[in-house]
Amino acid sequence: MLVSAKEMLEKAKAGHYAVGQFNINNLEWTKAILQTAQENNSPVILGVSEGAGKYMAGYKTIVGMVNGMLEEMNITVPVALHLDHGSYEACYKCIEAGFSSVMFDGSHYPIEENVAKTKELVKVCNEKGMSLEAEVGSIGGEEDGVIGMGECADPQECKAIADLGVSMLAAGIGNIHGKYPENWAGLSFETLDAIQQLTGDMPLVLHGGTGIPDDMIKKAISLGVAKINVNTECQLVFAEATRKYIEEGKDLQGKGFDPRKLLAPGFEAIKAKVKEKMEIFGSIDKA
Ligand code: 13P
Repeated sequence: MLVSAKEMLEKAKAGHYAVGQFNINNLEWTKAILQTAQENNSPVILGVSEGAGKYMAGYKTIVGMVNGMLEEMNITVPVALHLDHGSYEACYKCIEAGFSSVMFDGSHYPIEENVAKTKELVKVCNEKGMSLEAEVGSIGGEEDGVIGMGECADPQECKAIADLGVSMLAAGIGNIHGKYPENWAGLSFETLDAIQQLTGDMPLVLHGGTGIPDDMIKKAISLGVAKINVNTECQLVFAEATRKYIEEGKDLQGKGFDPRKLLAPGFEAIKAKVKEKMEIFGSIDKA
């Protein structure tokens, strides 16, 4: 059964490790991540962006697929199904569809509006026993070919949102989605430290996990990060493994064109990447 992310993240924060959120795109992604979590006795969060939600034929389809896998694959580790960077409307759709966690990304609203909308969603999620992630300070990344540098959140605004009773808080600390540019200044630990001092036990979320050096990840965990989002890195290893299979002409040998064979190297590559991340985050055997 799907669970809220609240308890697993509170445990992670207290135990000084982080739970990975791995974004899913299809059946192979979902199965690879769930299998890896079970094999390593690790809690896990499956992230679904609005775009991926549309791609996978809607939130209800995803809930059906994930619940089916939990049962048929005998998954016993804690698993949360989480909307990533949701709009206000998408949060309600996922609540209705049976997700166990949502992120409301109100970072582009003026802080008063972000507070008002977040407050309302806190109430709804509490009633349903779901976790809610809020965001302060937008996370940069590539948009129309231009890479925006990540903002640093205002610690006082973080406190204002944390005090509303959200389950976890994403705060911009110079992190961005996708690959980091050569001239990236790194994470702002000064900002993270100031945020943690004002938000206390609140599990903090680090977006843009792809490409952040391991030592920075470990330092971020030591300063209160309990959830780390990874998306692009799984896509890169999947594409690389699939390309290799085709370049080696394997799809032309025997029944190598069978999608179950064609997608197998990418599937294994995702499994290896997710395991590697779980080791760095320290979530292995924490289920
Ligand atoms: P990356 O694609 O950079 O790993 O970021 C993932 C993320 O933060 C999803 O919200």
